[in-house]
Amino acid sequence: MQLLHTITDLRAALNQYRHPAVVPTMGNLHDGHIALVRQAKPLGDVTVATIFVNRLQFAPHEDFDTYPRTLQADCAKLEAAGCDVVFAPNEAELYPQPQTYRVQPPSVLADILEGHFRPGFFGGVCTVVMKLLSCTQARTALFGKKDYQQLMVLRNMVQQFAMPIDVVGGETLRAEDGLALSSRNGYLSAAERHQAVQLSAALKRLAETLREGKTNYVALANQALAELTAQGWRPDYVVVRRRADLQAPQRGDALVVLAAARLGTTRLIDNLEV
Ligand code: PAJ
Repeated sequence: MQLLHTITDLRAALNQYRHPAVVPTMGNLHDGHIALVRQAKPLGDVTVATIFVNRLQFAPHEDFDTYPRTLQADCAKLEAAGCDVVFAPNEAELYPQPQTYRVQPPSVLADILEGHFRPGFFGGVCTVVMKLLSCTQARTALFGKKDYQQLMVLRNMVQQFAMPIDVVGGETLRAEDGLALSSRNGYLSAAERHQAVQLSAALKRLAETLREGKTNYVALANQALAELTAQGWRPDYVVVRRRADLQAPQRGDALVVLAAARLGTTRLIDNLEV
């Protein structure tokens, strides 16, 4: 496995390949990231992971400075998973000049849910992913359903810019108790980690109620939100949406339930397709 830090070296290494399959990450890799890498392997002639903590997608009060950076351990995991190339640029390499050209995703997709509570987040994500896909000349790009709205926004970007890239979604990997794996789970205290299962449990109950055919979506979601609040969470949202565009569902739409909530100082997100 090659570990490369510059765009020039990356281009030279990938020159001989026709179909890079790329998994963009911010590092501190867990089994969810690694599952995407394994899924990528048969989809291209070279498997590339990128590791870059992208300042553009963090608000000033968020955890950019403390976000865990664990390059050595990440590389060991990637190598074991059969990754061929790791691209880990530093900030000066990826943003040698201020990134004044930005990708601005449409408000209707990017200013709801996560985008409402994290203004500018999806603009930052789109801008860096556009750049990483360009650096790697990706033909296939893989993203996790754990970040459901991110996957939808990026799919849309690739489609609207007619980028010659297949966007593939990966299923959410969970711990045994149901908690979705996330780099931010490491922020939880032992007691919080124990309690964290309540988020996925709430979504599971909500999804089961919906499967019974109930359609009072707003009331059901608000009930789940109230339950989390009663358990000591500070939820940003719990919602029932249609999968296609994350707007309010009509009868017959395929559904997804999504939630974001803070436990102590840690903000967790999760979702379930119904
Ligand atoms: P990061 O949070 O590191 O996640 C990298 C990829 O791993 C994303 O596509 C994410 O959805 C996926 N992922 C995270 N947890 C997962 C889980 N439990 N199961 C399956 N997949 C999971 O998402 C980002 O980085 C950034 O926003 C990025 C796209 C790299 C742009 O900076």
